[in-house]
Amino acid sequence: MMILKQPKSRLFTVLFCLTTITILLFSYNYSITSSYFFKLWQVGTPVSKSLCACSQCISVEDEDPWFMELFNKSIPPLMSPNNTMLSEKTYKWWQGLQTRRKTPANYKEVVQRLFQVIPGEKHYMDSGPNRCRTCAVVGNSANLKGSHYGALIDSNDFVIRMNKAPTLGYEKDVGRRTTHHVMYPESATDLQNDTHLLLIPFKILDLEWIISALTTGTIKRTRMPVMAKIKANKNKVLIYSPTFFKYVYDFWLKGHGLYPSTGFLTLMFAIHICDEVNVFGFGADKGGNWQHYWENNLLHGFHHTGQHDGNHEYIVTMLLACKNKIKMFKGR
Ligand SMILES: *[C@@H]1O[C@H](CO)[C@@H](O)[C@H](O)[C@H]1NC(C)=O
Ligand SMILES: *[C@@H]1O[C@H](CO)[C@@H](O)[C@H](O)[C@H]1NC(C)=O
Ligand SMILES: *[C@@H]1O[C@H](CO)[C@@H](O)[C@H](O)[C@H]1NC(C)=O
Repeated sequence: MMILKQPKSRLFTVLFCLTTITILLFSYNYSITSSYFFKLWQVGTPVSKSLCACSQCISVEDEDPWFMELFNKSIPPLMSPNNTMLSEKTYKWWQGLQTRRKTPANYKEVVQRLFQVIPGEKHYMDSGPNRCRTCAVVGNSANLKGSHYGALIDSNDFVIRMNKAPTLGYEKDVGRRTTHHVMYPESATDLQNDTHLLLIPFKILDLEWIISALTTGTIKRTRMPVMAKIKANKNKVLIYSPTFFKYVYDFWLKGHGLYPSTGFLTLMFAIHICDEVNVFGFGADKGGNWQHYWENNLLHGFHHTGQHDGNHEYIVTMLLACKNKIKMFKGR
């Protein structure tokens, strides 16, 4: 961002980052070395050798200790027929996330059926010195209203949106392209044929739902009524890996909250498959309002929902920004 070039702003950024990290240290008991603080003074100055072809990459050779401790590139973010097996610990944790039927369906059998309906071959685990994959992660905050970010968002290789996010009528501020749309059954929406549906499953029934929604349409209810059929390209459906899900919770959130929010899970997906991550539409608008950009109802706040530790997610997100791992676009 141009703004970082002005000394005053840089000072502000450094102070902001110091404050964030101090809060983090005191509230969450991270074990931190002194090099951690030293690193902080490098805010805004790319110093390390990049491991990708972008001007600034998420992975660099001279890695930040905090980031290095958390970031694990070898865990695939997506489920494929090769990695459906869950450890007993992961399975148990994942099963406990949402209330479920007394006898859940057989996981192995469901997964087998799933990969007869969807392809399961996209991995994105192809990072290297010649790749520069830019990604826009577009949240649903009202701070996008009047931002005119549309063209900037669309200029990224991947444009990742989530839940009910519409583009029609909001193109100037949110863009028109969507390469990936992240959702769960209860937040589903119809998609264009060239968009990847990325399902976050919270239970086996969610996997059964996507099979059904793409074929027979027999499942009409999970925890609540859901879309029986969904308009989406079967060949482009992707499934968020429960193993990766648990890694995000254990490592990045240190077990805070019941489970991570869709926004945070999406951000984590992006930093693991992209080389440059640009974040739009996260947080409140400048009036401090928490609402969706397509709604005018202030009562529909979505910040503190109980299940998520929004505060911890916010601090981790800010740290990623402080350390130049992601770029935050604050909107209006
Ligand atoms: C990263 O994840 C892999 C696969 O789960 C694991 O074997 C490895 O030990 C992890 N690496 C670190 C540094 O935690
Ligand atoms: C799954 O494993 C097989 C055999 O080991 C391999 O040929 C194939 O490329 C793998 N598929 C994915 C999506 O990793
Ligand atoms: C959607 O794309 C697939 C290829 O992924 C193609 O086979 C199919 O005909 C397309 N459907 C529509 C309605 O355009």
